[in-house]
Amino acid sequence: MSQVLTTPQAARPVTPLSILVQQLEETVQIAKEEQVSASLMASLQQVFALATGIDPYLEECSTSESPALAALAQKTATEDWSKRFSDGETVRQLEQEMLSGHIEGQTLKLFVYMTGAKRILEVGMFTGYSALAMAEALPEDGHMVACEVDQYVADFARSCFDESPDGSKIKIEIAPALDTLKNLADAQESFDLVFIDADKKEYVDYFKLLLDRDLLAPGGFICVDNTLLQGQPYLPAEQRTANGEGIAQFNRFVADDPRVEQVLLPLRDGLTIIRRK
Ligand SMILES: C[S@@+](CC[C@H](N)C(=O)[O-])C[C@H]1O[C@@H](n2cnc3c(N)ncnc32)[C@H](O)[C@@H]1O
Repeated sequence: MSQVLTTPQAARPVTPLSILVQQLEETVQIAKEEQVSASLMASLQQVFALATGIDPYLEECSTSESPALAALAQKTATEDWSKRFSDGETVRQLEQEMLSGHIEGQTLKLFVYMTGAKRILEVGMFTGYSALAMAEALPEDGHMVACEVDQYVADFARSCFDESPDGSKIKIEIAPALDTLKNLADAQESFDLVFIDADKKEYVDYFKLLLDRDLLAPGGFICVDNTLLQGQPYLPAEQRTANGEGIAQFNRFVADDPRVEQVLLPLRDGLTIIRRK
């Protein structure tokens, strides 16, 4: 059973930049209380203005999201995710901050156009924002397989996809992603573009399967979300969560793999683009 809120909830900071902005805001407040010198205060406020202006300016300068994506984001923000949903055995925590959103969705959409991808695999769908953004750029004969383990969000996403002219390009596979990937490999499927965004502790396993079992087509690309994981991979290791450790290991694994070349972009919580050589 879902519970809908009357107004959208504000998302908490989950990217290095938004955490930095929050920290700076607190620092400016402390500086005011401690009555620091005028020059230090002016410098701090300049730093704060530079940091806090980036995200709104990216939104302003990027093409607006489609009505279907805007509706999906609004529906996700008005859902009461504090209620936990269960798949029977395991209770998983879902939260609106999982949704990638306008700038990342628009980036992925342009990657689909730029690569001419026709077969897309998404690993970790949540309410379907990134899946639908990429589907909007697929040609009519293109298709996507989206992996999601949670039945509730899969149904949530399907109802949003049904409101979009591009939703029928997306096939949802409800199962642990590693099982779905193995099944797809057994069926000799392959994909031009893969977006990884599920369990951070399994990223290395997803990556190995994609390359070892040729799920990634020759010349294909993998986009990987959260590769900056709130700064944890480059902050002191003792501050890392299990997810932070998973990402640090993944980033090292990819950097050491001679089969690929890659770049880590500081977009949102970090987006790594990988090309199979
Ligand atoms: C960060 S969210 C995905 C966000 C989505 N890509 C977007 O852009 O809005 C991660 C999703 O992966 C799912 N997930 C976590 N572990 C999984 C697994 N082992 N197999 C499949 N899905 C998984 C979670 O249920 C969650 O919905």
